[in-house]
Amino acid sequence: MTSAEQLLTTRAPKLRKALLSWYQKHQRDLPWRTAASPYRTVVSELMLQQTQVATVLPYFNRWVQRWPNFSALAQADADEVLAAWAGLGYYRRARLLHALAKEVSLLKVLPSTAQAWLQFTGVGPYTAAAIASISFKDPVAVVDGNVVRVLSRLAGLKTSFVSGAHAVKRVTPLANVLVDPREPGNYNQAIMELGSQVCRKAAPACTACPLKTFCASKGTQAIGIPKILRAKGRREIVHRVLALRDGKVLLRRHPKYARRLAGIAELPLAESLKFKPSLPAYAVRRRTVVQTTYEEHIHVPASQLKVVLSDGLIWVSLAELPFMAISGPHLRWLGEFVRRGKLV
Ligand code: ADE
Repeated sequence: MTSAEQLLTTRAPKLRKALLSWYQKHQRDLPWRTAASPYRTVVSELMLQQTQVATVLPYFNRWVQRWPNFSALAQADADEVLAAWAGLGYYRRARLLHALAKEVSLLKVLPSTAQAWLQFTGVGPYTAAAIASISFKDPVAVVDGNVVRVLSRLAGLKTSFVSGAHAVKRVTPLANVLVDPREPGNYNQAIMELGSQVCRKAAPACTACPLKTFCASKGTQAIGIPKILRAKGRREIVHRVLALRDGKVLLRRHPKYARRLAGIAELPLAESLKFKPSLPAYAVRRRTVVQTTYEEHIHVPASQLKVVLSDGLIWVSLAELPFMAISGPHLRWLGEFVRRGKLV
């Protein structure tokens, strides 16, 4: 530990107090906080991995209304679970949550430590710490991107990290010393909240920060911390077909055994339909998945395509689109094309 970290450690009781009283005043009313339960914490924390609060809110509310507890979710149909997740992305999380509900609903007592939650497939250190601290007061720190940023700035860590995971590893010991042993759940949520609302990446609001008297890097200095080197992303161009017939759009549903998109439908790839794009695309859209940016060229064939319905190809009416497990960006683009009058 650096001397700045040691100083933070000795001031931990005061720092916790300042952070918790700020959180009491400024926390957002979020449905997993105002009516908390282990199930709601599990659902929200899985949804919040890689997805922002504003996006998660409607999904969370619909989800817990439909499946209010672990055993309701355990009995749900896999396709329905996937359809309810459609649009949140990273679908592995939906399958993990469903599998977790099946395991957990068989237990007489819920596990209460991060160590125990870590034993479930797909539950990593972040999720285990969030669940155990928020629902069971296990005094372990959560360390996500927000926490890395707050702690690196507090300690003035000027070193470069080769990856986000490297930064998490570096700040975890400090995080575990600082976590409040009496109120670990509130403390963890408070530091994440501070990272997202005050100690923002590009525009930190240092003057409004409850921890400014503890902080080694203030104002413009804070902006470059932490320095996380990103692996250079890849770019890939893909061509897809937007085919319409009798008010229906052609989609391809990925097979159940597909690794990333099992059961999710997308606009079919041009090459899979033996369609050779000649004209410029009707639309070009970009999206990033992990470290690959896909440039998606979407083509409307000039004449009718010969389509043999096999390998997951399906015609879906526009009215059915919102109820199907369709890749979030593809569903959004289809909505845009409908509004532009292309699909009617
Ligand atoms: N991000 C992920 N989980 C969170 C929580 N419980 N509170 C604030 N931000 C979060």
